[in-house]
Amino acid sequence: MHHISNPSILYFGTPVVLVGTTNDDDTFNLAPISSVFWLGYRCMIGIAAHSKTTENILRTKECVLNLPSVDQVGAVDRLALLTGSNPVPAGKVLKGYEHEADKFGRAGLTPIASTIVKAPRVLECPVHLEAAFVAIHPFAAETGIGNIRSVTLELKILRVHLDESIVSDENPNHVDPDKWRPLMMSFQQFYGLGAQVHPSKLASVPEQLYRTNDTESALAAGMVS
Ligand SMILES: Cc1cc2nc3c(=O)[nH]c(=O)nc-3n(C[C@H](O)[C@H](O)[C@H](O)COP(=O)(O)O)c2cc1C
Repeated sequence: MHHISNPSILYFGTPVVLVGTTNDDDTFNLAPISSVFWLGYRCMIGIAAHSKTTENILRTKECVLNLPSVDQVGAVDRLALLTGSNPVPAGKVLKGYEHEADKFGRAGLTPIASTIVKAPRVLECPVHLEAAFVAIHPFAAETGIGNIRSVTLELKILRVHLDESIVSDENPNHVDPDKWRPLMMSFQQFYGLGAQVHPSKLASVPEQLYRTNDTESALAAGMVS
């Protein structure tokens, strides 16, 4: 039996991403988000229009998407309710946020240099995706400019860094889903993925058939350096 309901949030479960960006004084900011999906070497992130991260991405046109595994959940939780914005935006004051200039220090995470962008990678995360800003789409703009609270940002992945612990033994260009344990957020709570539940017909499609021009340019960028 289904009942009509009116939940305040519709966060049905998505992976956590730590977005590394550069502030205007060249220090780093790091922010957990979980509104994200990937298509080819592009992705969309959903993010508060007035967050420090959005400000930094729109100014620098780049960021790094660092994907934590379940092992980094403590560090991710230490980043919750923190903002790089000073003063703290009114909406976040209401939710109990505080300003933190040193998010890496506060979380106990280690910034390492990226290879294409200036934004930081997170050493402890098994996946680092260096990315360029491509486009912005405001949410709810049709109801009036003043109502825009969130935006989606299209990002193009420029280079992929994978920790060897999640890579297939046979193929260094394949993430082994049995080894990759993404940290998931569902209705503001942290979860991991369970074991595989069924063989997958879709998995009969060779992964190479999903390669695009973006995939090839990331490969070419990798070969230059
Ligand atoms: C697990 C988790 C997931 C989050 N997901 C999102 C999200 O998808 N989009 C968003 O705008 N904020 C999300 N937040 C809140 C941001 O972290 C928050 O807006 C933070 O202030 C951003 O940092 P910044 O202001 O320094 O950019 C999430 C927070 C946590 C802890």
